[in-house]
Amino acid sequence: MYKYDEYDQQMVDTRVAEFRDQVRRRLAGELTEDQFKPLRLQNGLYLQLHAYMLRVAVPYGTMNSAQMKVLGDIADKYDRGYGHFTTRTNIQYNWIKLEDTPDALADLAKVEMHAIQTSGNCIRNISSDQYAGASADEVVDPRPYAELLRQWSSFHPEFLVLPRKFKIAVIASEIDRAAMRLHDIGINLVRNEAGEVGAEFYVGGGMGRTPFVAKKIKDFVPIDQMVTYAEACVRVYNRYGRRDNKYKARIKILVHELGLEAYSKEVDAEFAHLLSQPIEPPLAELERIQAMFFDPAFETGLSDELDLSDPDFRLWVERNTYAHKAPGYVIANVSLKPIGGIPGDATSDQIRLMADLAKDYSFDELRVTHAQNIVFPHVKKSDLYALWQKLEKADLSTPNLDTVGDIIACPGLDYCSLANARSIPVAQKISERFGSAERQAEIGELKLKISGCINACGHHHAGHIGILGVDKKGKENYQLLLGGSEGADTSLAKITGPGFDEDGVVDATEKAIDVYLANKQGDERFLDTYRRIGMAPFKEAIYG
Ligand code: HEM
Ligand code: SF4
Repeated sequence: MYKYDEYDQQMVDTRVAEFRDQVRRRLAGELTEDQFKPLRLQNGLYLQLHAYMLRVAVPYGTMNSAQMKVLGDIADKYDRGYGHFTTRTNIQYNWIKLEDTPDALADLAKVEMHAIQTSGNCIRNISSDQYAGASADEVVDPRPYAELLRQWSSFHPEFLVLPRKFKIAVIASEIDRAAMRLHDIGINLVRNEAGEVGAEFYVGGGMGRTPFVAKKIKDFVPIDQMVTYAEACVRVYNRYGRRDNKYKARIKILVHELGLEAYSKEVDAEFAHLLSQPIEPPLAELERIQAMFFDPAFETGLSDELDLSDPDFRLWVERNTYAHKAPGYVIANVSLKPIGGIPGDATSDQIRLMADLAKDYSFDELRVTHAQNIVFPHVKKSDLYALWQKLEKADLSTPNLDTVGDIIACPGLDYCSLANARSIPVAQKISERFGSAERQAEIGELKLKISGCINACGHHHAGHIGILGVDKKGKENYQLLLGGSEGADTSLAKITGPGFDEDGVVDATEKAIDVYLANKQGDERFLDTYRRIGMAPFKEAIYG
């Protein structure tokens, strides 16, 4: 786990002091809202529909228990006793009072956390694989590389006022668990034939109003040039990205309009130029960071046996755990999607409990996932039953990972000032309709994602089933989409046809699932069946 040095700490502390004074001036009427807005946004403070919202960065989704505990305490001290984990692996508080935000930021700074660059047209929180350092299928632990990029991008003087926000994901596995291809830049760490680590670069992915899957631009950038190549990509975007039209300002539009080849040529020229005036941090810096991401002291000689005689425990193990690289260990997922719950929400008690459990059972480590869940990356199999029992008592053991109950949903019209429709009640109704474990088992893997408007914060483009809230003559209306996916086989979902009201879209979802069940061959997932039989049978069942 990365530890701040004195410069990191000083930077964050100074920022808190500066913001405290800005808030004081705003409250005293010395700053107008217009003057204050850019200052608060630089500190992750939005003004939502009903209240201020604070977005806290969790770099590459990794936290220790002390940090998680503070997140729980902030929910109690300054909010309404809960927090919302998001698809950017951040946490948001929906009911923060302006006068409390400096104190909340000061509490965060004490545990090496902040809200810097969680808003604005800058490089945002870098995301990664939530199983980093734990799964057997990774080439290297991607987090030191993500940390290096975090340091490069934090307060980068050229990239604080980009044409638009910029999102980077770093993974190191063929199994993409971070929606890497839906980022402005996606980096996949690979090894070449000589066994050296390098970076495969993707550019121009993203959702929102004009979704694109990122295109591969380089197979292998040597690791001691990764930051320089990223710098070249962002510089070219900074130079040519459209500043005249917000909707056309993302790098995906630039890459699309220029074409990958022309964009790539510009990047190569910029890269060559940058190599002549070295900006790459020395490899020793990467090694210094890497040394902080050492493997915990895994015990050896452990048994891989698990007593699965308790059927509820068995179901949870089958659904919510993943193979670990060390014998006798497992990766455990905590679903923040109880039946009928609000996706990604956790109460302060639940947050603090997860912090304690990480300390007792997972070498003090936790991860936030882009699917709005929490991971204990390193659990001893012999501890798993005890861990599960404690999760069970706190309503944190719903066995629904990657099923129809594991819904991603943005805050929608319940909180968001940009929303056209509510997302949360639709998520709750679908979760209740498909709540039973039997039903979920029958349906198997199904990723359902809901956004309250075209901005796609709820990843509806990447849902096997996606739901998009739209405004239809002043009424909330929902379009149903099918066939989206993230990961190695990323695809964009297509709209089935005219939209529905809230109950109508829940019924339409059920009809789509029925078509899948009637047509499924062998152990095909919903997505596989859709890809094989196409949209027509679904449309027919839904619109008859
Ligand atoms: C204050 C509340 C929020 C506002 C004002 C907001 C605003 C936006 C806007 C304007 C976009 C479209 C950007 C573009 O493509 O040009 C967007 C996209 C996105 N937002 Fe949010 N959002 C909010 C909350 C959230 C939340 C709660 C999440 C996570 C649950 C989130 C995650 C995302 C993601 C993943 C995208 C897709 C970006 C892409 O791939 O292009 N946002 N948001
Ligand atoms: S998708 Fe729209 S409604 Fe949902 S959080 Fe993003 S901006 Fe708000």
